[in-house]
Amino acid sequence: SLSSSSLEQQTSCDDTGAAIVSSNRVVLSEAIHLQQHLHEPHGGIVPTLALESHAAQLPGVVRAALQQANLAATDLDAIAVTRGPGIHACLSVGMNAAKTLAAALNKPLIGVNHMVVEGHALMARMTTTKEGEAAFPFLCLLVSGGHTLLLVVHDVNHYTQLGTTLDDAVGEAYDKVARLLGIAWLPGRGGGAGAALEQLARTGDASRFSLPIPMRHASRAASMDFSFAGLKTAVARMVPALAEQEDDRWRADMAAAFEHTVIAHLTDKLRRAFRWTQQHSIPITSLVVSGGVASNEAIRAELGRLAGEHHVPLVCPPAKLCTDNGIMIAWAGMERLQRGFIDDYSIDIRTRWPL
Ligand code: KG4
Repeated sequence: SLSSSSLEQQTSCDDTGAAIVSSNRVVLSEAIHLQQHLHEPHGGIVPTLALESHAAQLPGVVRAALQQANLAATDLDAIAVTRGPGIHACLSVGMNAAKTLAAALNKPLIGVNHMVVEGHALMARMTTTKEGEAAFPFLCLLVSGGHTLLLVVHDVNHYTQLGTTLDDAVGEAYDKVARLLGIAWLPGRGGGAGAALEQLARTGDASRFSLPIPMRHASRAASMDFSFAGLKTAVARMVPALAEQEDDRWRADMAAAFEHTVIAHLTDKLRRAFRWTQQHSIPITSLVVSGGVASNEAIRAELGRLAGEHHVPLVCPPAKLCTDNGIMIAWAGMERLQRGFIDDYSIDIRTRWPL
């Protein structure tokens, strides 16, 4: 039963994706072209390479999404597209394609902020099957390579930011520490350096090194913000002496100590957030944790325990949906469409988009 469907294009950064979802939460198709092989030799995203690849791959990806769903473009109810944040040139490829498609088909156009409530947080609402899970309002922690955000999500387009990072994002800290430890990327989607560090940390002894838990000082303890730069620097200071050693075990032990400290920091601030919702009488239904770092099993286990203490479920969209993807944007477009948030064909992109 195809009551409503929304095609999305996701070209904010390094992958080119398109997906079709229905209003009854069924993913009808997903097509994606990955670019990791282009960027990995450079140790980061190269904008010109990303742009060329998006421009070359997007038409084929859109065609594939329609074919997989066995739909004609005229069957769609709306076209959703990533409006930002991201690299200007890359966003433009997707935005221009979406506008032209929507205008030619005479369909509503819906611009989506792929990072926050519209992207990650709403994804939990599509994937959860249990009654009440990820129902509004909920507490949401977004942890990715570019963002660390703690929010109360009251509804679509209505949220309160409780905290963010003062410096590096969590995923960024994972990536930088992985580089310091000389850990190679795990191949494939949703891998990256963070997943490789997690894997190594499982074999390590976290108690061997004592790293400072960020934001514990009295002057910052009440804040719900995060900080990861000092933790990374603490690791960086210890590495040179350790690298002299014959025995390589320190890498796994340092990975474990780093992860242990990240988890302690996240739980510190989440405890404050739970208290804040109680003080403001906001009856949150769930703790939603999303973004690339949310696929970390050690983090999930600890946050699950914390949610349990506060009598709400932990809801994490499946790991493969915790990375940038077309389904996420298609679903966010669907939620907006259902509330009548439709954009003009002349909307612009937003390379920086707070929340
Ligand atoms: O949300 P995401 O896929 O992309 C953006 O940041 O836009 O997040 C990617 C980030 C990377 O920094 C990656 O190292 C991190 O998420 N990450 C992880 C894990 N898997 C991915 N960090 C820790 N543990 C993981 N298992």
